[in-house]
Amino acid sequence: MRELAYLNKHFARYKWHLLGGIVFVAISNTFAIFPAQIIRYAIDFVQDSLMVFPLFNEENILAFYSKMLTRAILLFSALVLFLALAKGFFLFLMRQTIIVMSRLMEYDLKNDIFQKYEDLHMAFYKQNNTGDLMNRISEDVSRVRMYLGPAIMYTINLIVLFVMVVVTMLSVNAKLTLYVLTPLPILSILIYWVSRKINQRSERVQRKLSDLSTFVQEAFSGIRVIKAYNRLSEREFEFAEHCNDYKNTSLELVKVNALFMPAMILLIGLSTILTIYIGGLLTIDGSISPGNIAEFVIYVNMLTWPVASVGWVTSLVQRAAASQKRINEFLKIVPEIQNPTQAPFATQGTLAFKNVSFTYPDSGVKALKNISFKVEQGKSLAIIGTTGSGKSTIANLLCRLYDVDKGSILIDNQEIDKINLDAYRNSIGYVPQDVYLFSDTISNNISFSTTIADTDEDAVLQAAKDAQVYSNIIEFPNGFETRVGERGITLSGGQKQRISIARAIIKQPSILIFDDCLSAVDTETEERILQNLKRIMDNRTTIIISHRVSSVKHCDEILVLDEGEIQENGSHDELMKKRGSYFEIHEQQQLEAMKA
Ligand SMILES: Nc1ncnc2c1ncn2[C@@H]1O[C@H](COP(=O)(O)OP(=O)(O)O)[C@@H](O)[C@H]1O
Ligand SMILES: [Mg+2]
Repeated sequence: MRELAYLNKHFARYKWHLLGGIVFVAISNTFAIFPAQIIRYAIDFVQDSLMVFPLFNEENILAFYSKMLTRAILLFSALVLFLALAKGFFLFLMRQTIIVMSRLMEYDLKNDIFQKYEDLHMAFYKQNNTGDLMNRISEDVSRVRMYLGPAIMYTINLIVLFVMVVVTMLSVNAKLTLYVLTPLPILSILIYWVSRKINQRSERVQRKLSDLSTFVQEAFSGIRVIKAYNRLSEREFEFAEHCNDYKNTSLELVKVNALFMPAMILLIGLSTILTIYIGGLLTIDGSISPGNIAEFVIYVNMLTWPVASVGWVTSLVQRAAASQKRINEFLKIVPEIQNPTQAPFATQGTLAFKNVSFTYPDSGVKALKNISFKVEQGKSLAIIGTTGSGKSTIANLLCRLYDVDKGSILIDNQEIDKINLDAYRNSIGYVPQDVYLFSDTISNNISFSTTIADTDEDAVLQAAKDAQVYSNIIEFPNGFETRVGERGITLSGGQKQRISIARAIIKQPSILIFDDCLSAVDTETEERILQNLKRIMDNRTTIIISHRVSSVKHCDEILVLDEGEIQENGSHDELMKKRGSYFEIHEQQQLEAMKA
């Protein structure tokens, strides 16, 4: 329950919905109690009349009385009908306030969580799998909503109804009340037990279902491999097994579900029988009227659902508390990377690493060791090295996706963790090594990095031309409006890389970072892109990361990285003269190019 306290501040925001809900519950319950009293009155009235009638022998007086009686019964019926409608109307209003409140709070909560996710550091995404993150925001939030809406609504309803009905019952006859209410606690406990079982089993069903869909999804994504290796029948067999599992757990659930209604009806029946039996004895005594029995039967029926809901609500609240606990665990995490200031920062583009060391927090891999270099504003720096030498790590640190362990990174001579992070990131154009395109049109993927974008078609075209992808795009039937990703066309690795480059350059940033983004492009296209980049790189600080000499040789300064350390640095000519490892890489790649 402590976990659910987090939600109190949300309740405060929607207090009028809640208060309105409570008032409507009270009103609708009042309208529910009157009909029982009218029915008691009607029955007693009819019975009295029937006792009085035989005393009159006159034909026409009898006719007159029976007409009166019919009228009275019609009137009573109309009243009961009207009260039922009034009750229904206020029930509607109750749902409109409390359930609406729960939906609004659900919306807030989802937004809170999503915002938190976005703020969290990269290591967090490494530690938690996507499925977990999705569950928090969808399933856990829906369970919490069941507490915010139905659980609260039924609790208020129960309290109000219980007090009203029991007070009315006691005013009629205390002994009868006591007898009639005895089976109800048993009902609560039973329903609690049954709904716990139902929840446990439906969770198991849910898990099996998600196993099943994961399996199917994998089968479809990997259909090429499955067909090529002719594993169709094995897959079918596995699928049948998953289905069987799912079926069996579902049947388990059906068994408890089947118990639910009969158990409830049995207990209601028990209460009704008790009412009639004890009520009958009391009527014979003369302490209550036959009308009271009818009245009590209605009360008992009114109480059963709310009393049953105690058990149901208890299990809802338990589930919600467990979900909220999981949500709170995420909400409690403090993002490691935070924006230290809102002060404006206009990035010029002078970059420096000073004795930077960095170890990945999750894997413990020491990726960079005592790295120092400086790039003046508008100059270009190349980083070359084998895979795993730490090139991408430098790019990650420059985007401040991670903070350094030792040493410091200076942007325009200010420490990177002291400047306005939003402003700084807005001035970077970063092409990551693993290109990511959203399931959207090519045009929107390119203009993603900017705000003016959508309207400025020319800029998108120009960026595509500079990235040497324009001619590919216009060959698609829908050109720039072609959708990529899941339901769109499949682009080649090189095309994706070039769209990603277009995304970076359309932004016209002060700092450009290209992380191995020409690896899937042939050398001719590479050369053309580099030619175009020369114009764009003018006056922008550029970092080009690659393992190919052809990509880096035009840069002002080249770092050769090996196992997280700088092996050599200098311009292309200097390094070639030096005949060190850069020279070796160069020779080897020349040789390969000749062979190809
Ligand atoms: N997100 C990460 N979490 C943990 N370890 C990582 C991560 N990214 C890279 N590494 C490790 O850090 C080292 C340097 O990686 P990286 O900078 O990607 O090399 P490069 O880009 O030169 O191929 C590698 O040993 C790699 O396994
Ligand atoms: Mg890399």
